Amino acid sequence: MKKKRIAVLASGRGSNFQALIDAAGAGTIPGRCIVLFTDNPGAYAIQRARAADIPVTVLDFASFSSKEAYEQALLAAMRRTKAHLFVLAGYMRILGKEIVAAFPGRIMNIHPALLPAFTGLHGQRQAVDYGVKVAGCTVHFVDENLDCGPIILQKCVPVLPGDDEDTLADRILVEEHRCYPEAIRLFCEDRLEIDGRIVRIR
Ligand code: GAR
Repeated sequence: MKKKRIAVLASGRGSNFQALIDAAGAGTIPGRCIVLFTDNPGAYAIQRARAADIPVTVLDFASFSSKEAYEQALLAAMRRTKAHLFVLAGYMRILGKEIVAAFPGRIMNIHPALLPAFTGLHGQRQAVDYGVKVAGCTVHFVDENLDCGPIILQKCVPVLPGDDEDTLADRILVEEHRCYPEAIRLFCEDRLEIDGRIVRIR
């Protein structure tokens, strides 16, 4: 099977990006990371890309005159990659409608909550504050609404007595690092079929 071209967008630590690098390097995923895009010149994800010989494109959000100008530059750069798949790995901005529309069914996100619960920022804190007994992560395709696109995979973890945002986030992160490479593998194997809100795994 021909390897899929994967472009990654990350804003920070990049541990999910690393999980993808490792899975692709181990041959588990028939795909390769062709570029890292980041909006943050200080993102640790940049070091991870350099260590893995993955080209980095920094589009420093602060250096653009407006969100529109940033989005236009990002869209043009994304088009140039000819990537099959765009992976949001801790990318902490909402993608504009034009970008989402340009790549239907080709942008994935991971969210640290069991969607549709606890969308937006601090999903883990929202889960602790709400008092749920089960939390987890969701990998989904990106559509025009925040944390709302068709769900590919979800994994659960228990919320334990005494948990705070950080302990729960650590437990969820272990599952994120399994779940995201798995979803990306399914995409790269052409096994995901989107039918409205439903993602079928062939
Ligand atoms: C992850 O927990 C990811 O689910 C979350 O940010 C963290 C990034 O960690 N993403 C979001 O909250 C997106 N709304 P990482 O940079 O180590 O992969």
